Amino acid sequence: MRIIPCPKEFTKKDGSFLFDAETGFFCDYENVGNSISSFLKTCGIGWRTGDDIKFTSDGSDSSSEAYTLVVGEDGVKVSAKSERGLFYGAQTLKQLILSSFDEKTKTAEIPCCEINDAPRFSYRGYMFDTVRHFFPVEVVKKYIEAISLLKLNVFHWHLSDDQGWRVQIDKYPRLTEHGSMRRETCGDKKPHGGFYTKEQIKDVVEFAKERFITVIPEFDIPGHTRAAVSSYPELGCSKKPVEVSTKFGIHSEILCAGREESYDFVKGVLTEFAEMFPSKYIHIGGDEAPKKHWQSCPDCQRRIKENSLKNEEELQGWFTNQIVEFLASKGRKAIVWNESLNSGIVDGSVTVQMWMDKKKRSYAFADKGGKVIASDFFHYYCDYPYAMTPLIKTYNYEPAPKKLKKPENIIGVETPIWTEFINNFDRLCELFFPRLAAVAETGWTDRENKSAADFMRRFRIYAPHLERLGIKPAPPQEWNPSPIARIRGTFSFTHNMVMKKGEK
Ligand code: ACM
Ligand code: ZN
Repeated sequence: MRIIPCPKEFTKKDGSFLFDAETGFFCDYENVGNSISSFLKTCGIGWRTGDDIKFTSDGSDSSSEAYTLVVGEDGVKVSAKSERGLFYGAQTLKQLILSSFDEKTKTAEIPCCEINDAPRFSYRGYMFDTVRHFFPVEVVKKYIEAISLLKLNVFHWHLSDDQGWRVQIDKYPRLTEHGSMRRETCGDKKPHGGFYTKEQIKDVVEFAKERFITVIPEFDIPGHTRAAVSSYPELGCSKKPVEVSTKFGIHSEILCAGREESYDFVKGVLTEFAEMFPSKYIHIGGDEAPKKHWQSCPDCQRRIKENSLKNEEELQGWFTNQIVEFLASKGRKAIVWNESLNSGIVDGSVTVQMWMDKKKRSYAFADKGGKVIASDFFHYYCDYPYAMTPLIKTYNYEPAPKKLKKPENIIGVETPIWTEFINNFDRLCELFFPRLAAVAETGWTDRENKSAADFMRRFRIYAPHLERLGIKPAPPQEWNPSPIARIRGTFSFTHNMVMKKGEK
């Protein structure tokens, strides 16, 4: 069995089904049919209608992701309670075909089997930072296509940060006119920028939806907002002009949480986000927000006093709660990075994305009933070289440890890629793959069915599949470096990183 992610139940039977260019498909579902026919095209085969491979659904549960796939000698039957389930069945079928596909004869011999499959977690995502380096819509879509093969269902799109603003907002045109461009990157003297128009966003959201992927946009607040403050200096505590940042790291120039203008701004932006993105969730960041300016800002201090808050940390909690309430008024829910729990007062309705949480507040939040997404820095941050985060470490990460009182509150996994040190497509592909496949398997496959050695073997067969999409994964010799290569690689990466960081 050569399928990623590994299915829940797989039973091998005697015999095989011969797939060829004459094989006919019966499928009344547009998204599933389109997915199959574009796959066939990459194999050099045209779509044929017929009864050999049949997709059927009773439509009894539109949210179900489960499917059954039965391969017999005279045909293949895929059934599910929803179109979504059929779509996942189609992704498995593609892999079964590719496992033995002969390019010359355009045939594949698929062993007879029965697969009963369903995911372990409902949230299976990846995050793409298109701020630190801008990537065009074609790249964004290529990734959506690639991850749909892996049955991931969330694309978290990081669209705002210190180094740029990446989405058209009609109410605040300077965000893109000014904030989408930085003068240079770490002294290279080359301007860098770009942004997505509303038309492009709509196109991406639709493209993702056809692949049963929800796009969750992130507007990171109150920290990581230098590009916004640079565009509208009145949003910062000092109101002084600042440059769109040309360096990486954490920046102290953040949104003022005292003045009403900031709240109007955030709500104005989120109103347009809600129009562009139909997702239930909107990500509002909350990570790495230094309080230096809030401590000396009369407006922030007044806000603390008026609301009987203890300190600046509670001010961040209060600020977040205003925005959570605003999103709720629009029927949306907030996702926040785990630092949002530091205040101790954040609204329990938020979903927390755990990335760096030494005090394990996210687990305590889950134990009290809160929902958590696991994105652990040491295992899931794809921007770090394999020397620092070998593939096996990513693969073996357990998102819902048994010690939790309510492990079911870990709703899923997400692997982020930040692009400070990634400025081209090839590097992006190497760092993302095979890691994305490893995370996809953790998100989908039951714990007891996982095997690192088997995954590595299956990925080697799967790689050519990605290469058909123009995605070149890291070669196997790079996945799990030797101890000495790990030390060398870690040293050279961190040295480079320190050189490029700068508080401005
Ligand atoms: C983060 O990596 N700052 C969420
Ligand atoms: Zn302030």
